[in-house]
Amino acid sequence: MHDSAFIPLAHYHEAAEAVRQRIKQTPAIGLVLGSGLGSLVEEIKDADAIPYQEIPHWPHSTVQGHAGKLVIGQLENKTVLAMQGRAHFYEGYTMAQVTLPIRVMRLLGINAVVLTNAAGGLNPGFSAGDIMVIQDHINPVGLFGHSPLRGPNIGAFGPRFSINTHIYNPTLIKLAHRVAQANEISLREGVYVSLSGPAFETPAEVRMLRAWGGDAVGMSTAHEALVAYHAGMRVLGFSSITNLCLDNTEAQDEISHEEVLRLGRQIVPRLAAILRGVLREMPPFDPSEIENQPEHD
Ligand code: HPA
Repeated sequence: MHDSAFIPLAHYHEAAEAVRQRIKQTPAIGLVLGSGLGSLVEEIKDADAIPYQEIPHWPHSTVQGHAGKLVIGQLENKTVLAMQGRAHFYEGYTMAQVTLPIRVMRLLGINAVVLTNAAGGLNPGFSAGDIMVIQDHINPVGLFGHSPLRGPNIGAFGPRFSINTHIYNPTLIKLAHRVAQANEISLREGVYVSLSGPAFETPAEVRMLRAWGGDAVGMSTAHEALVAYHAGMRVLGFSSITNLCLDNTEAQDEISHEEVLRLGRQIVPRLAAILRGVLREMPPFDPSEIENQPEHD
């Protein structure tokens, strides 16, 4: 079931066509909702919903707290396509499978994607309940072998050697800060580290990730951002800091998935306000902002 290391272009098109047949509106912006953040779809009006199982090749999550459906509708006068829950590499899917939805969004005409996740705070100045806009990422899973771009390059999406200096769109990051300030919401900014999970980090690993320059750590997002930026999309990312990572073996309080979900839900109203403002003021797409261009054979 989970042996699709490389996915042919035709499969992305089959998935995109299945979605197209079920929607009456053409989405412009993609939204990926992470752990505990799924209730954000309740803000979407006039929505069509498609369970992941009904889309060919689409990976579906087996994890509690990840509902598993696409919701397409109106938010702040923009047509958004939201993923309520995502599949993860740790569930046994390949990197190509977990990033298939991003490429399908591209085929549907989406040019901006907002990625959200639950993350542990590495930065000692952070608190549980904070929101962080992602400035950049560190992706050891991809760097050391499991890049979602490994395998035959599909030039219709982007180049063989993807450039990644500005994955997280600087204009959208500034906009996020402006919106947060206007709504009197505190917004952190920092570097997100993507690990494969599912185990939480040991204290020694937490100290290592902090030394690397990480501010938050989680089990998603970086590979999606890579695939989106490779395919010429604008990317904006938010981490909800659901817990602080424990950096010593004397620590008593443990992290739990339930606590991650609980804190995620508490963050939803603030994140929703930021998302709404970003959507409202999203500047028109300018392809020259993106360093990667499709390759033609
Ligand atoms: N580590 C990794 N992933 C997470 C964490 C964490 O502490 N919290 C929420 N997702």
